[in-house]
Amino acid sequence: MKKLIIRGGKPLNGEININGAKNSTVALIPAAILADSEVVLEGVPDIQDVHSLIEILHEFNVKTSFKNNVLKIDPSEMQSIPMPTGKIQSLRASYYFMGATLSKFGEGVIGLPGGCFLGPRPIDQHVKAFKSLGAEVEDEYGVITLTTPNGLIATRIYLDVVSVGATINTILASVRAKGKTVIENAAREPEIIDVVTLLNKMGAKIRGAGTSVIRIEGVEQLHGTTHTIIPDRIEAGTYITAAVAMGHEVKINNVIFEHIESFIAKLDEMGAKMEIGEDSILVGRSDDLNMVSIKTQPYPGFATDLQQPLTPLLTKAKGKGTITDTIYPQRVKHIPELNRMGADIKVDGDIIRIEGPAELTGAPVRASDLRAGACLVIAGLIANGETEITGVDNILRGYSNIVEKLQSVGADIEMIEDDTVE
Ligand code: EPU
Repeated sequence: MKKLIIRGGKPLNGEININGAKNSTVALIPAAILADSEVVLEGVPDIQDVHSLIEILHEFNVKTSFKNNVLKIDPSEMQSIPMPTGKIQSLRASYYFMGATLSKFGEGVIGLPGGCFLGPRPIDQHVKAFKSLGAEVEDEYGVITLTTPNGLIATRIYLDVVSVGATINTILASVRAKGKTVIENAAREPEIIDVVTLLNKMGAKIRGAGTSVIRIEGVEQLHGTTHTIIPDRIEAGTYITAAVAMGHEVKINNVIFEHIESFIAKLDEMGAKMEIGEDSILVGRSDDLNMVSIKTQPYPGFATDLQQPLTPLLTKAKGKGTITDTIYPQRVKHIPELNRMGADIKVDGDIIRIEGPAELTGAPVRASDLRAGACLVIAGLIANGETEITGVDNILRGYSNIVEKLQSVGADIEMIEDDTVE
């Protein structure tokens, strides 16, 4: 029932602080249940996905406290409870409970994850890895039942697809398996390094995170620890894009530049004015942007999660460009909404074709998924007139305090409750 109202065209000035990474957090929380005592996560973003995961932890009889971005997780009395339906189905990252419960209890019943619709999102590689480790996996009407008749035995696993989720889930499942597991063709995202950093602090023996070969020597027990989550590179990229589009001078704080190098390289190619600091990026006023073409790829390539937020900026650039999302070719739900606002974009098979510059005008639009929502917020900031965005819950799943953060740099944006909106 929430709506975002944005009156566009306002210049942005000031500073925005970036939170801990959503896609790390949603894996770190299930990883934490492997400890036998309290794990403290610092820098946890206050987003809906985190609240959903906390509810799931409570269902597993795990104690938590969440205050000032610090999440304390005490799994010492956790129970192996089947979760075929309910909250577990509300976010895609629930799939990490498959690897985590396998590792902790040697079993698990997990309802298939929901999350953003980006086209087909199979979990065949997760299942392949669990089976290689000796698990039996049954899928009945979307409920995955995992058992380990002979325990988990370390092995060599080649992932056919470079997958963040399958890599992390394989690590979670194998961290206590007997012997040495080797994951080949592993994904290299910073969030994977973050999860491995936490697990190693908990007593795991994992090497090679951030490369395509990860080696895990099984340990018997994991203990509690404290860990600070890495900054959210996608949130950073989102606000940097807003700042390039509308900023006079906006400083984005808590950024690891190396995590968004391919994204910054594209903005450079567009002619955006940016100064890279030690852990911040200062974005200046950028006029006369050049059109570019983008191809999303696994890390360190251009992130699929930044494709949608960047699209409205491309509408301001002159010339013709394309976006090819090789990870999720069907991640195009933002396009009809941008066209409703005056953009000139065509979806041509697996290629998005953009012609600019286009004058965006405020319109009623719907955020069909998280990053489409970020895209529409940026489009609303750019557009003349008023933009009304529905589907706001999709945005709040992944962006904490988005309204307050944008207001603090001068955006005219508010969130209202509207009973007439579904
Ligand atoms: N894939 C398979 N089989 C599998 C797993 C993946 O074919 O078993 C394919 C997918 O269909 C996709 C590609 O492999 O084409 C990569 O998918 P990946 O497994 O890496 O994606 P994910 O782990 O499900 C995470 C993020 C996504 C992000 C992708 C790609 C989380 C919770 N989600 O998803 O984030 O887009 O990696 O980087 O970490 C978002 O934040 O908006 C979001 C959707």
